[in-house]
Amino acid sequence: MIEEAGKRLAHLENVLFKVSDAYSLSNIAGNFNGAFAVLFWCHIPRERRREFLSVLCNKLESGSPVVFVGQLPDNDVQSHSTDHYGNKLAHRRAAGKDFSILKNIPDRNELLADLKAFAVDIQYNRYSSGFWSVSWKTV
Ligand SMILES: C[S@@+](CC[C@H](N)C(=O)[O-])C[C@H]1O[C@@H](n2cnc3c(N)ncnc32)[C@H](O)[C@@H]1O
Repeated sequence: MIEEAGKRLAHLENVLFKVSDAYSLSNIAGNFNGAFAVLFWCHIPRERRREFLSVLCNKLESGSPVVFVGQLPDNDVQSHSTDHYGNKLAHRRAAGKDFSILKNIPDRNELLADLKAFAVDIQYNRYSSGFWSVSWKTV
């Protein structure tokens, strides 16, 4: 994916790709002034959301805009199971193997509760295209 993205954006001199664990961002140095992620929030375990937000916000200057976009529930959610943390698990079969994929779809109140310590100006939206978004500024 990184290689493909690199090819598509090769003409831009101000883009740099790095691979890092989202729960440590340990090889990402320096302060940033914005963050954006699509289809990632659903894969964060409920019990690790605050840890994730803390790591992310520590890399951002105060007042930085942050945007996350995810999918709204579709018919697939009926087949999801729930683990003891309340995480939703979708079941997939690929390459002859069975997988459980973490697929949490937060509602507005859940997002507000998770973001409370980290965010101001929180805006939550739902779109008829089947997506939700949340944007905020870091404290
Ligand atoms: C559903 S994909 C979305 C990819 C891309 N944002 C898009 O919209 O096409 C979720 C991505 O999260 C990445 N991911 C999952 N857990 C991660 C972690 N702990 N650290 C970094 N990336 C992670 C996966 O490798 C995958 O590329």
